[in-house]
Amino acid sequence: MLRICYTSEARSPDDQQQFAEIVSISAALNKRDGVTGLLLWDGLLFLQALEGPDEAVSECYARIARDVRHFQIRVIFNTEIDHREFGHWSMTQRTLGRENTREFEQEVKALVNNVSDFDLRAFFVGFAALSDGRRRLAGGRESDPRRGLLI
Ligand SMILES: Cc1cc2nc3c(=O)[nH]c(=O)nc-3n(C[C@H](O)[C@H](O)[C@H](O)COP(=O)(O)O)c2cc1C
Repeated sequence: MLRICYTSEARSPDDQQQFAEIVSISAALNKRDGVTGLLLWDGLLFLQALEGPDEAVSECYARIARDVRHFQIRVIFNTEIDHREFGHWSMTQRTLGRENTREFEQEVKALVNNVSDFDLRAFFVGFAALSDGRRRLAGGRESDPRRGLLI
């Protein structure tokens, strides 16, 4: 089996409708193909882990990589695995609004609590923890286009 994990940047930030469409097609196709994992979205960046049979994961990732709804795709892990760390398909997104600042991080921590691979767990928790800073940075991005988004 294979695990591919990547980050990418949403073409339309904070587009809830588009995220719902992505989640809907993903749930259907991943179920059909035996692909499981976790998809996070904080309004700006995606972080997704895909796990399953080699061919199914490769094909799924190839479709995702062609998708114009995101860009700057960076593969973080591409690993042969003997067991799944995310037993079921699940996903979460950051709830927008200042009062929910810590909620996304707490939710992600709970979701990856049973992940035994330390690097994988740390990456997901770190992604959520850095979400605030990323959004602030993105706010100032127009004035300095050379500044990338932190992941
Ligand atoms: C961030 C992101 C995550 C996605 N995750 C999946 C996924 O897990 N499984 C999947 O089949 N499609 C996923 N998609 C949708 C695919 O890119 C693609 O639209 C879909 O698989 C249908 O394939 P097609 O457009 O070649 O017909 C994702 C798209 C985006 C932008």
